[in-house]
Amino acid sequence: GKGEYDHFMLKEIDEQPTSLAQALEGRIDPENGRIALADFGPGTFTDVSSVQLVACGTSYHAALYGSLALNQAGIRATALLANEYSAAAPPIDDETLVIAVTQSGETADTLNALRQANADGAETVTVTNVVGSTAAREADETLFIRAGPEIGVAATKTFSSQAVMLTLLAQRIAADRRGEPPADLESLLPALARMPAEIERVLETSDAAAVANRYRGSQSYFFIGRGLGYPVALEGALKFKEITYEHAEGFASGELKHGPLALVTPETPVFAVFTGQEDAKTLNNAEEAQTRGAPLVAVCPDGHPALETADAHLEIPDTEPALAGLLANVQLQLVSYYAADLLGRPIDKPRNLAKSVTVE
Ligand code: M6R
Repeated sequence: GKGEYDHFMLKEIDEQPTSLAQALEGRIDPENGRIALADFGPGTFTDVSSVQLVACGTSYHAALYGSLALNQAGIRATALLANEYSAAAPPIDDETLVIAVTQSGETADTLNALRQANADGAETVTVTNVVGSTAAREADETLFIRAGPEIGVAATKTFSSQAVMLTLLAQRIAADRRGEPPADLESLLPALARMPAEIERVLETSDAAAVANRYRGSQSYFFIGRGLGYPVALEGALKFKEITYEHAEGFASGELKHGPLALVTPETPVFAVFTGQEDAKTLNNAEEAQTRGAPLVAVCPDGHPALETADAHLEIPDTEPALAGLLANVQLQLVSYYAADLLGRPIDKPRNLAKSVTVE
């Protein structure tokens, strides 16, 4: 049950330190500087030269996060909307790995893409929360995210666990492929181990309720980010529209000036995600919106240059760029939750949506 909580969504947001610790349990070994992903046999990914990730909705945002992590680790990877896959899937060869990312393991669009990949001869992996689900059964290999049951229609803790497990998997694929662990593993592993405590800190100190209240009644809500901050911006906007019914859009920071800037007014707060990678560029983009009167909400560590101009601050602990966006995402989950709560929305069961979409 919900226990002391008014909504499953808030309960599930609050569970993230635990659900992430569970996901990581036994899978990282920071003392010895190793990934210990025993879910896969030794050398499983040695022959993988390119990766396609297929997913929908929030899981697609996690998939996009994973594809960028793979690219940064030197592996060719693309995230694809599963419902677009049958119309124009990139070619598959015998070195292609297809990863289906699906919390429920039952999303029809994602199952279709997985089946097509299997039929075309790809090696397939499912990343899912549900043991025994259809996607888990039909892939060659599975990686369970161990988030525990998620009741709220809005995916929260499962997004965090999917993105973290894909980050880990990206390192593992790169290590198998190259025959040696990637260089940045040394800083990534301790940062992963710190993450549950850092999320706890975000949950305990967040100003999200005040920020949601301050910008209530705005015309539209924009979320921007760059690199690994981009999928987080998309996810921030999806969560916001899904449960508040207000208009929200996520953009790559650098895209603002290529069109969306025309929408920016003093009635369109811009939430900017800073990951520690190319932050000066993102700040420039955010300031262009601010010049048009938009309030700037900076999601960044304390002492960050963005705070010299930002109108509001959602603080995140200072961590590796590989993970900072996921701490920012927790702040954005909370903003959406409180904004929806102020509007009296049925947060756990938004209109017109189902937890698991089993039709095409
Ligand atoms: O179960 P899945 O992860 O395959 O579901 C995919 C989407 O339907 C899902 O993530 C949806 O976008 C969420 N309700 C968003 O919060």
